[in-house]
Amino acid sequence: MNILLLGKNGQVGWELQRALAPLGGLLALDRAGADGLCGDLADLDGLAATVRAVRPRLIVNAAAYTAVDKAESEPALARRINAEAPAVLAREAAACGALLLHYSTDYVFDGSGDAPWQEGDATGPLSVYGATKLAGEQAIAASGCAHLILRTSWVYAARGGNFAKTMLRLGAERERLSVVNDQWGAPTGAELIADVSAHAARQTLAQPALGGLYHLAAAGFTTWFDYAKHVFGQARQAQSATDLIVNEVVPVPSTAFPTPARRPHNSRLCTRRLQAAFGLTLPPWQQGVNRLLAELLT
Ligand SMILES: NC(=O)c1ccc[n+]([C@@H]2O[C@H](COP(=O)([O-])OP(=O)(O)OC[C@H]3O[C@@H](n4cnc5c(N)ncnc54)[C@H](OP(=O)(O)O)[C@@H]3O)[C@@H](O)[C@H]2O)c1
Repeated sequence: MNILLLGKNGQVGWELQRALAPLGGLLALDRAGADGLCGDLADLDGLAATVRAVRPRLIVNAAAYTAVDKAESEPALARRINAEAPAVLAREAAACGALLLHYSTDYVFDGSGDAPWQEGDATGPLSVYGATKLAGEQAIAASGCAHLILRTSWVYAARGGNFAKTMLRLGAERERLSVVNDQWGAPTGAELIADVSAHAARQTLAQPALGGLYHLAAAGFTTWFDYAKHVFGQARQAQSATDLIVNEVVPVPSTAFPTPARRPHNSRLCTRRLQAAFGLTLPPWQQGVNRLLAELLT
């Protein structure tokens, strides 16, 4: 099977290179492209030409404009990458009969209430990033192509920067840390997203009726404050606990750290639909975070 992966070096893209490999011949591109093929989502004609040349059975789009705050001052570029490029991928997927697997975000919601968001709930993005991601979803759904859209939340990966790494660094530098305690969500590992993506894509290729929009996040919910406390608790049990000098973690509201983009307070995603459709069980968020910490702390 011919698989085209875009955004191969992002958090999720990197793990997809591993998880998609057993499904068939994988052509993975980053923004720079390869072998004369364009991998830049800002180049809409180049992107279309890539799909036409590769004629994949499965297109996985892990590339996105993910700089949430910067998007407020670069709305046109964010829209091109998050909305117009997915529309092109959807058009080309429809033309060659490929399944398009695409990622979206809890930021399509306004973050009100405290119930986990279901796929059919009304959207109301608070930011340019959220609005452009929503427009990408809508363009794919309207195109009529076979698709899977997986909305996820609070993504972390061992590779590159992540919240746990930042907490461990700050915890070794400062005795007192303030951490936001009014945003709720589930930290979700790029490994888990990639593995679930491979399962879901394989099953949807065999059974196209499974296509559609799903929420994908680790089980359970937390706040950044409790997530930070969990990181320090795990670190203290590990050898490297001696590095930590932090002795007070203070819960603060989001307003303590003003940012250009507003973020939802309630990022809880209900994942029942995905688990039922694909026969999967999503593990508690602590499982993936503890695994990450075990890698970081040894
Ligand atoms: N991170 C989160 O917390 C989160 C939460 C919910 C949903 N999501 C969604 O999950 C998906 C994967 O996110 P992630 O966390 O893996 O993001 P990420 O680590 O920021 O990776 C995004 C990738 O997209 C690439 N990219 C940006 N502009 C591009 C362009 N014009 N052409 C080609 N590639 C381009 C980036 O390449 P460069 O490094 O070259 O810029 C990067 O490799 C995205 O759809 C995102 O919206 C993420």
